[in-house]
Amino acid sequence: MAIHKVGVVGCGLMGSGIAQVSAQAGFPTVVREVSSELVDKGLKGIEKNLSRLVEKGSLTEAAKNEIRGRLTGVTSISELKDCDVVIEAIIEQLPAKRELFTELDKLCPPHTIFASNTSSLTITEIAAATKRPQRFVGLHFFNPVPIMKLVEVVRTIATDPAVYEEMIAFGAKLGKTPVHANDSGGFIVNRLLVPYLLDAIRALEEGVGSVVDIDNSMKLGCGYPMGPFTLLDFVGLDTTYYIAQIMFDEFKEKRFAAPPLLKRMVLAGWHGKKSGRGFYDYSDPANPKPMSL
Ligand code: 3HC
Repeated sequence: MAIHKVGVVGCGLMGSGIAQVSAQAGFPTVVREVSSELVDKGLKGIEKNLSRLVEKGSLTEAAKNEIRGRLTGVTSISELKDCDVVIEAIIEQLPAKRELFTELDKLCPPHTIFASNTSSLTITEIAAATKRPQRFVGLHFFNPVPIMKLVEVVRTIATDPAVYEEMIAFGAKLGKTPVHANDSGGFIVNRLLVPYLLDAIRALEEGVGSVVDIDNSMKLGCGYPMGPFTLLDFVGLDTTYYIAQIMFDEFKEKRFAAPPLLKRMVLAGWHGKKSGRGFYDYSDPANPKPMSL
């Protein structure tokens, strides 16, 4: 099956990144948000990213305009009815995702493949809201989507092997390196990353080292691009807390249990970089200062 048109639902951080790479890969891409303000905000972010590439000389102004021309922002879900693939990147809540896919299932032709960018929910449970679980996969991208080279392509026990291989090829067409992953909580990356991030918080709680010293240890001792606390703030403490809860619920293992400090920070509204405070204070964004915790 040829993929002519891609739909993306959600134009937040992840959805806008996915829409950008899809348009950059040459696919006419329709991206949907719930309001025209949110559509405009998402498209402005893409515009900014593309302009940065032009400034750096890695994209011509003409190529930028072509990419931009392939992107259409919409607010009505019915505008996705002729897409060959629809990728969902909305709020990480099962009922909202199930409701969306039930609606898309009625709208889209039988050949359309559905994908969810969920980072922790079970693909099987989302796919079960449709009558086409055999044409349903997970496509899990990483933040920032235009930069991170990986996409986890997730198959369930119901995914048709031909559809799955098509989505592996699609991931490669988007310029990503696809990896095969089964529908197990957190897939590959979060299965390993989440316990690591939670352990960093536990190490802080136990007084093993400070935020800065633990960050520097992993950055300079292991060559990680960001230390765990910088990464936690970047991913979002609310997001991490939510993922940890889902994974704990699935596996009932201590390594996925959210440490009390994380819970308290989320309750206090310290959600990381996006809220201005997390393990660091971002009052001066170019020069984050560790919080005293
Ligand atoms: N959007 C687009 N491009 C961005 C960007 C953004 N938000 N942030 C940085 N960039 C680009 C820069 O323009 C620069 O491009 P260039 O090399 O062509 O000039 C390049 O990325 C490097 O940026 P900087 O020099 O400013 O900064 P760094 O060298 O520190 O790189 C980083 C930034 C790529 C974010 C790097 O720190 C990194 O790889 N961090 C780890 C990110 C990570 O682990 N992401 C996965 C999170 S887990 C996840 O998403 C899964 C979910 O389920 C939780």
